[in-house]
Amino acid sequence: MKRYIISPGPVEVSPTVLSAMSMPIMHHRTPQFSEILTEVRENLKYLYQTNENVLFFASSGTGAMEAAVCNLLSKGDKAICIRAGKFGERWTELCNAFGVIPIDIDVTWGEAVDSITVKDILDKNPDVKAVFMQAHETSTGAKQPVKEIAEITKNMPETVLIIDAITALGVYELKTDEWGLDVVITGSQKALGLPPGLSTISVSQKAWKLAEKSDLPKFYFNLKSELKSYNKQTTSFTPAISLIIGLSTALKEMKERGLENVFLHHKRLAEGTRQGVIATGLELYSKSLSEAVTVIKMPEGIDGQKVNKILRDEFGISIAGGQGEAKGKIVRISHMGYLSEWDMIIALSAIERALKKLGHPIILGRAGAAALEYFAQN
Ligand SMILES: Cc1ncc(COP(=O)(O)O)c(C=O)c1O
Repeated sequence: MKRYIISPGPVEVSPTVLSAMSMPIMHHRTPQFSEILTEVRENLKYLYQTNENVLFFASSGTGAMEAAVCNLLSKGDKAICIRAGKFGERWTELCNAFGVIPIDIDVTWGEAVDSITVKDILDKNPDVKAVFMQAHETSTGAKQPVKEIAEITKNMPETVLIIDAITALGVYELKTDEWGLDVVITGSQKALGLPPGLSTISVSQKAWKLAEKSDLPKFYFNLKSELKSYNKQTTSFTPAISLIIGLSTALKEMKERGLENVFLHHKRLAEGTRQGVIATGLELYSKSLSEAVTVIKMPEGIDGQKVNKILRDEFGISIAGGQGEAKGKIVRISHMGYLSEWDMIIALSAIERALKKLGHPIILGRAGAAALEYFAQN
């Protein structure tokens, strides 16, 4: 069976990146690998739109989220956790694990946090050390107002803004330095278009000052020790060698295309997919649309898990379902990874077929036709 991976992570990896990663393993304590590291780090600055150093961990994205908590904060510090879905909840769990006091802002799933609410809570709690949020909440497909919140924290010398940009960086505009984003995190298996296992994290000067005071336990996820190694053109521990080599190719390709074109590509896939969803009589789940995923509400009486299962087992297509309170209620199509407009038409058509099979009255081909029309014109 031919397999398609159109899920929001892990994503489809391009043949050029796959072949770069299949090179014989290079030892990491060599001038050759240091040269690759240096070049990758420079290109990461381009992606991040930052002049700060971007550090790596051989971990999934959550490792870098943990690093942000345990390196910047101290026991008993207060932090705001914006929880607009499953991944927002992870910030609270991490704070609890390290003895940081979370102040949760719960956002209705599918919606974006209101920056005025964040400002009010910060006004009432001027001792808050960090605001943790997602740039894009992948579990709901809701894009969050990073720039607006940065406008608030930028003027607070003792409060940092920490962005989980795991499904945003490289998808749409995020200006790390210009907007004042203190920490920006991503993971390899999303917009970077690599297999899982590598996380990256940028740290502002304001955040490094907090790191000086942090008393939380850390060993592997130690930003200060990674920075020391960075300055010696190496990493503290064995890096994810093959993934970094793959990243070198991915970033070079991204630079050649230009970030604005990379963003346009995601925007185009997202818009064409949405047109297809609406044309076939389905509804979008998110009220704050993102270019990373399209989230489709399942019609009354249809279990989204069954739709996913039919796609996976009968059609060979992996998309994603809902998590937590959205379990069974939605399906999610990725626009990240090595994907084209044709993949969007495949995903949409497969969903229509699965819905028909489950007894939902639907006319096959409408979604694909609308998407095709959009792609032909744009
Ligand atoms: C927004 C967001 N944050 C965090 C994570 C967790 O990342 P990982 O599974 O790489 O640890 C994901 C994964 O889907 C994500 O989409």
